[in-house]
Amino acid sequence: MKVLICGFRKDEKETLDRVSSELGIEPAYFSPNLDSGNLDAAKGFEMIAVTAGSKMDRENLTRLAGMGVRYIATRSIGFDNFDVAACRELGLKFANAPYSAHSVADYTVMLMLMLTRRMREILRRGAVQDYGYKGFEGRELHNLTVGVIGTGRIGRTVIEDLSGFGPKILGYDLYPNDALRDRVEYLPLEELLARADIVTLHAPLQPSSYHLINAESLRGMKEGALLINTARGELVDTGALIDALESGKLGGAALDVLEGERAYTFADHRGEVVKSRERAILTAMPNVLLTGHYAFYTDQAVEDMARVALRALKQFAESGRADSEIV
Ligand code: NAI
Repeated sequence: MKVLICGFRKDEKETLDRVSSELGIEPAYFSPNLDSGNLDAAKGFEMIAVTAGSKMDRENLTRLAGMGVRYIATRSIGFDNFDVAACRELGLKFANAPYSAHSVADYTVMLMLMLTRRMREILRRGAVQDYGYKGFEGRELHNLTVGVIGTGRIGRTVIEDLSGFGPKILGYDLYPNDALRDRVEYLPLEELLARADIVTLHAPLQPSSYHLINAESLRGMKEGALLINTARGELVDTGALIDALESGKLGGAALDVLEGERAYTFADHRGEVVKSRERAILTAMPNVLLTGHYAFYTDQAVEDMARVALRALKQFAESGRADSEIV
């Protein structure tokens, strides 16, 4: 069983080699993410493993299917880069890799604590020996209300992790989870936004969630509320977010993901001009924590990503079905 592993990072190689050998897979490596200019790399492969960085739109999927690709697995949870309807129509079997939800949940709780304790400025000012107190007063989570948007695997884990800290927890989901109702008060989105001191996003990017946080929803948020996004940048209208931070309507934000980040994340751009004015503006704000899509990046998640994605390809080849199949 030959698999072309695209968009791989050097740090994944040892795990991918080991898991491939355990599963009886012969891996071939292609370091760039797949895009229209390099799809020919997939010629001769029935199975490919990609990441969230590959552009899997209808046109590219059609070309891949034409080359004989039949099974695709993404080593990511999110698959908003895939045209799922096109996969179905083209008869391509496709699976994602629901890896450890603790990776992103831990990171989210860390950002929540860093925001409420003003950690960015404490670290920056400590580095120039400012050990004063001005502007550093924090807030305690048990006094606050946290609104969780999207209570699936990651949102639910954030809720479980927060239980020890004791905030009031509100939830919004298209499909509320009855098993969480003892810990979460589910509300319509507008009510959650009006009551939450901290709003954290854990919904996938879909047409229904694009710019879920926009000028109007930001207007409906509590004065001085904090926004955390470890899901997808496009859930938030970045221009409207910058306006809300500039006006003081929002008290701060922690963003691991940002609109348009695919053009530059997952790579070292030291010494270059990164073409994202929004990123430059947000980077300059003392109450904003901005990171480059690292919430997933733990030893456990890297292991899971390789194992779940490659196992899905093997299952597809053996039975036509996979535990994590999307279509
Ligand atoms: P999941 O599928 O288990 O849960 C998503 C939840 O969101 C579901 O309960 C679903 O009903 C709900 N939902 C869908 N559309 C919604 C909407 N319009 N409004 C409110 N709720 C909605 O997914 P999981 O594993 O919890 O992952 C969530 C997202 O986190 C992924 O789709 C991915 O985009 C993002 N992610 C980000 C990572 C990072 O490194 N920053 C890493 C992994 C995932």
